[in-house]
Amino acid sequence: SAAEKGGWSSFMAKEVAEEPEAVANTMRGRVQDGQIVIPELDGMDELFAGVSRIVIVAAGTAAYAGLVGKYAIEQWTRIPVEVELAHEFRYRDPIVGPDTLVISISQSGETMDTLMAVKEAARLGAKTLSICNTQGATIPRESDAIVYTHAGPEVAVASTKAFVAQITALYLFALHVARIRGTLSPETQAEQIAELSALPAKIQWVLDNEQERIEQFAHWMADTRSVLFLGRHVGYPIALEGALKLKELSYIHAEGFAAGELKHGPIALIEPGQPVFVIVPSPSDSPVLHSKVVSNIQEIRARGARVIAIAETGDAAVLPHADEVLRVPLAAPLFAPILAVVPLHIFAMGLANAKGLDVDQPRNLAKSVTVE
Ligand code: G6P
Repeated sequence: SAAEKGGWSSFMAKEVAEEPEAVANTMRGRVQDGQIVIPELDGMDELFAGVSRIVIVAAGTAAYAGLVGKYAIEQWTRIPVEVELAHEFRYRDPIVGPDTLVISISQSGETMDTLMAVKEAARLGAKTLSICNTQGATIPRESDAIVYTHAGPEVAVASTKAFVAQITALYLFALHVARIRGTLSPETQAEQIAELSALPAKIQWVLDNEQERIEQFAHWMADTRSVLFLGRHVGYPIALEGALKLKELSYIHAEGFAAGELKHGPIALIEPGQPVFVIVPSPSDSPVLHSKVVSNIQEIRARGARVIAIAETGDAAVLPHADEVLRVPLAAPLFAPILAVVPLHIFAMGLANAKGLDVDQPRNLAKSVTVE
């Protein structure tokens, strides 16, 4: 009903607006005196100290959150991480055992594919950790440990605020394990916690300063038939998420690619007028990746692509190369994707609205898929 939407035009509009608080609420109480405190994980230090491998299982948007999490967990804890779609993991006789921690990610906690993967992991002797947004759901009940995201109820079928909350929970987990394993200096640990704490205000900045312009822009693009998304490093899973959201909400063909993969195939798709969103790494924090991405942009622009760059506010170097620049505040490299995804969520929602589609209930999709 209109009342439940709290004055918003859709649940999705409300949920995108709640992305800052989804991150803030997931962190709330879990950072104390500059330390990560996750009482739900008490008694698991020995497991985290000894585990030799982490496998993340999930489906849909949650799997992309897992892909982002992999970069941070590996960088901070040096534990090798694999991310696998739950339905693929389940039926290929996966190699996991007591030395493996299997982390499932699920907003609903009821996705059957993910539940079956968790059960299979447990049967094989792995320890299981659930990252879930729904108290008391089946997947957390079937898991050895739970870290809840506190995004609040998500009603729109396609996931938005739960995605940023899932990444937040994975980062909290990674920093917690890094402290146990002694893989980060106290200074680096403190810097990462400060970056995490700064995210809600930075996401809010994107909503306050860029949302209207992105919606206008989505309106102009309402007749577009195909959109590509490119990113590198943590920007790569964000490109996948941007494409998924556009498919789900607007029924437009969309694909995400690792920018470095362009020349190995996808560049053949570029023809004059093809819109391509490019997630641009920071020129100051990631100068090498920044210049690589700028040369990727030059390659596709030379072939007529229409480039929409998502770049940090201080990045003047990207201006001559892009047709449009959507701005996000400066953040350390591992944190930038949590900001870059916000314009993509707004864009997908804006384009679906421009086409007159129901953004909360896209055709053929269900909020939680309880069949395999
Ligand atoms: C469905 C939804 C997606 C969601 C996926 C995983 O397919 O349409 O938006 O990402 O399930 O859901 P979960 O509840 O496990 O995160």
